[in-house]
Amino acid sequence: MTAQTPPPPMSLLAELTHRCPLQCPYCSNPVALDPRAGELTADIWKRVFDEAAALGVLQVHFSGGEPMARPDLPELVAHASSLGLYTNLITSGVLMDKAALDALVAAGLDHVQLSFQDIDPESAEHIGGMKGAQSRKLRAADLMMADGIPLTLNFVIHRANAGRVPAMLAYAERLGVARVEIAHTQYYGWGLRNRAALLPTRVQLETVTREVEAARARLGHRLAIDYVTPDYYADQPKPCMGGWGRRFVNISPVGRVLPCHAAETIPNVAFPDIRDASLADIWNYAPLFTMFRGTAWMPEPCAGCALKEVDWGGCRCQALALAGDASATDPICARSPRHRDIGLILDDLPAEVPPFVYRRYGSAR
Ligand code: FES
Repeated sequence: MTAQTPPPPMSLLAELTHRCPLQCPYCSNPVALDPRAGELTADIWKRVFDEAAALGVLQVHFSGGEPMARPDLPELVAHASSLGLYTNLITSGVLMDKAALDALVAAGLDHVQLSFQDIDPESAEHIGGMKGAQSRKLRAADLMMADGIPLTLNFVIHRANAGRVPAMLAYAERLGVARVEIAHTQYYGWGLRNRAALLPTRVQLETVTREVEAARARLGHRLAIDYVTPDYYADQPKPCMGGWGRRFVNISPVGRVLPCHAAETIPNVAFPDIRDASLADIWNYAPLFTMFRGTAWMPEPCAGCALKEVDWGGCRCQALALAGDASATDPICARSPRHRDIGLILDDLPAEVPPFVYRRYGSAR
């Protein structure tokens, strides 16, 4: 690192593919998914991991879509692991069996994050749009517990399943995992299309928060519960991605290098391609990374705010989605002139929950 270059990213999110057997209505991947034909080859991914390790990256998160749809996943995990990178698999578990798990463990996989759509099978399979998914996930969880690989469960919470958080926590406790995430949906990509069906009511949010607090008090260190609340009910923005271009770098299935998973919505900027430049050059100098890095870009009231190096201006993609301007103050902030718009969205929540809008891979209907 020189005086001109920023510290390296801590984590690389390797989005191996947008292909996925599930069709979650809260999917944060872009509305237009990357085609299979354009996916980076294993050789390019290995070069990326070489460059990431040299740059100072510590962790690689293998993600998607469903990363297990790539048959070369164990080869990629083995390569990242051989470089000393901590490897985490973010998966729905529906493609996991004993042979696949054995191959990943032999490759050096360090950790798995297994996502659930709900704890009630019928609801889970309705939300994910895949029959039989829940039993596959439960089997995958049992396999991983039997193997002993560190496992985190991830439950995505929204209006349709917020009433079952105690049952989700009870399952995590029974299974014996050390960590569970109770994470309210965020509204990016396809998830923004389904916002009216997904946003919980204030009563639901307060109930879930009380349930999580009670479980934390009861379970102590036996089960760590990460709790992510929905931005729309907050008055202070989150430091999205730990700040733009500060800690995380995403690489899309076709090789676009991004500061966050939703950055492809940012207009009037070139998206760097990992096939055209090194990861270090992109991280240090690409305009997409420098445009919102640090605090110099901030408008008022952010520029004069005492919290500007705490929240780093919140979320740029949310500012774009809600205020139409990626450089605007995040409307989640109570000091934003657009903050009242969030209140109007919440006031307008339909009493009758609209049906989910699904998409299939290859279609953006
Ligand atoms: Fe892009 Fe928050 S998702 S900055």
